[in-house]
Amino acid sequence: MAPLLCLLILSAAFLSVANTGKAATCSDCFIQSRAAYYPNSDVQGTATGRCGYGTFGATINGGDVTAASDLYRDGIGCGACYQVRCTNSKYCSDKGVTVVITDHGSSANTDFILSRRAFARMAQTTDAAASLIALGIVDIEYRRVSCSYLYKNITIKIDENSNYPHYLAFVIFYQQGKRDITAVQLCETKNLVCKLLDRSYGAIWTTTSPPSGPLSIGMLFSDDDGEEKWVVPVNNIPESWKAGDTYDSGVQVNA
Ligand SMILES: *[C@@H]1O[C@H](CO)[C@@H](O)[C@H](O)[C@H]1NC(C)=O
Repeated sequence: MAPLLCLLILSAAFLSVANTGKAATCSDCFIQSRAAYYPNSDVQGTATGRCGYGTFGATINGGDVTAASDLYRDGIGCGACYQVRCTNSKYCSDKGVTVVITDHGSSANTDFILSRRAFARMAQTTDAAASLIALGIVDIEYRRVSCSYLYKNITIKIDENSNYPHYLAFVIFYQQGKRDITAVQLCETKNLVCKLLDRSYGAIWTTTSPPSGPLSIGMLFSDDDGEEKWVVPVNNIPESWKAGDTYDSGVQVNA
């Protein structure tokens, strides 16, 4: 073998060794697992999912939603998107389906319990989809991908359990990209009095005695390299916010 070629192979081998540390957390790599689907009649997602999205939990991402077990991560995983594809080449497409986590749950060693709709969308054809549905639980592989919501800004919905002006609870959804929201800061916009909020469960952030006046909801986005970035919405929550209302933040994040 020519010495130069030898050297090239050696350095390639060295590079792949140097890369193995990264491979363990490689965010583009597929991970082997299993998936089931919701046994109930909901073809789409569920309005009672543990992320607290309410009715949005059933319709977000066109109903391509999922419950996650470990990936739920005490609620931090809510809103994260995953490409999930089944591995039986007879029935399954290469692309699979992209789902959003809206709920917490597992069944028989699964990482995902998909909406029935999303489960069927992993198939190549409608006939293949019927076969997948009949199997109930299938081998899959998955990886985290960016969420994409065309023409949507990050949106804040005041939870129905809020009680103006004493108790404020809200969910944040439609965030694009691959980052987690790991902290939320609520600021009153006149005197800039701010407080960090608690994640009560799922994607729900709460505070008792919120400041009065228009409110700004700052969000800390963290990626899997630990890089963090505060995003402050363009639009404020109006002073007289109402339980059940949704507010467009006027901002979106990417990647
Ligand atoms: C998103 O917010 C911007 C303002 O920052 C606004 O111009 C735009 O209309 C909003 N998009 C949607 C779809 O509401």
